[in-house]
Amino acid sequence: MQLEKVTASEQAIEMEDKYGAHNYHPLPVVLSKGKGVHVWDVEGKQYYDFLSAYSAVNQGHCHPKIVKAMHDQASTLSLTSRAFHNDILGPYEKYVTEYFNFDKVLPMNTGAEAVETAIKIARKWAYEKKGVEEHQAQIIVCENNFHGRTTTVISFSNDENARKNFGPYTPGFIKIPYNDINALKEALESTENIAGFLVEPIQGEAGVFTPADDYMKQAKELCSQHNALFIADEIQTGIARTGGLLAVCGNCDCQNHCERQETYTKPDMLILGKALSGGNYPVSAVLADNEVMNVIQPGQHGSTFGGNPVAGAVAIAALDVVKDENLIQNARKLGNLFRSELNKYIEQTDLVSLVRGRGLLNAIVINDSEESSTAWDICMALRDNGLLAKPTHGNIIRFAPPLVMTEEELLDCVAIIVKTLKQFEK
Ligand SMILES: Cc1ncc(COP(=O)(O)O)c(C=O)c1O
Repeated sequence: MQLEKVTASEQAIEMEDKYGAHNYHPLPVVLSKGKGVHVWDVEGKQYYDFLSAYSAVNQGHCHPKIVKAMHDQASTLSLTSRAFHNDILGPYEKYVTEYFNFDKVLPMNTGAEAVETAIKIARKWAYEKKGVEEHQAQIIVCENNFHGRTTTVISFSNDENARKNFGPYTPGFIKIPYNDINALKEALESTENIAGFLVEPIQGEAGVFTPADDYMKQAKELCSQHNALFIADEIQTGIARTGGLLAVCGNCDCQNHCERQETYTKPDMLILGKALSGGNYPVSAVLADNEVMNVIQPGQHGSTFGGNPVAGAVAIAALDVVKDENLIQNARKLGNLFRSELNKYIEQTDLVSLVRGRGLLNAIVINDSEESSTAWDICMALRDNGLLAKPTHGNIIRFAPPLVMTEEELLDCVAIIVKTLKQFEK
């Protein structure tokens, strides 16, 4: 059968519309090439990527070191399953656990799978270590969370569109408002059956909601007092995105996040995905110390692809790049510059009410109703002006470029964004 070659954007969009499930509503742009901070469409037009595949491409598109590691490993040994050992998994596990300072890692593929993994481990830990009666474990989660799309994960979402008609829902979750330490305290005090608190250190999908500086630290302390696991979902915020190796690193900008303990809140379980491979391959992970991770025994969890040699080689290269290219420091410096430049514009306009975020995970809130199409229309105009971004919710636009951006490129992007926003002033 002859494969139809895409030569025009419209043709690709029509094919997706006809042959693909309609589970996304992409911006109408068809990309065919990426390099560093740039992507190109089928017609050859160049754009700045200001989404980075939802913070997966932190190391920039097609980073040569990561691509080489992937290519070399794929042409040597790509998949063994976990029925046998392979010579990459052990070195990768040593590397990643030392990098993030945990005893053990459980390797998976996608973010949602890693969240499911953390939920299973937390429940098992509650029954076997904390003494919770079987089937009674509860996990505290936050309103407006986003942790993925599986049936269990959407069971504790409060996005009706993501949930409706996918029930029956998985029980065992207590929802509390985000950034509300008293609500967490009350939930922890409400029952002895709490296995853990699952939280995003910054709520990315919800619109880059950045909690109080001490929220993570206080939450961890409360969890420790109540013998509940503090579980950080850093799938979107982790790996240099927010100007720390992890968002739970607080204000620390060292490369090894444990050098300055006073700003660091160590989770009992850390969930990573996305940029763990620099966006080159689906690689996710749950990290924990022995007393938690050792509750998992053979046959109780796994995945054919989890921990495969290509994933291991790619993740090592991707994490090397973060350190070699000082991406933590760059995200922090450029993030400060981005917000200060946008604030200069915001002072003079009614169109945008604020910019918020940390490092290079930011969002602007458009001064219009959640139902309005203004944010979408602005993203269309940004596209026309050479920059790709997407609304998160109705009136919020997230800005998350690759972290390999230079200062000059960032200022160029700010100029495009301000020019575009001005087009929408009344
Ligand atoms: C915080 C968070 N958790 C989990 C996920 C799910 O990851 P995946 O889409 O790889 O399943 C995402 C994806 O956006 C996320 O941002």
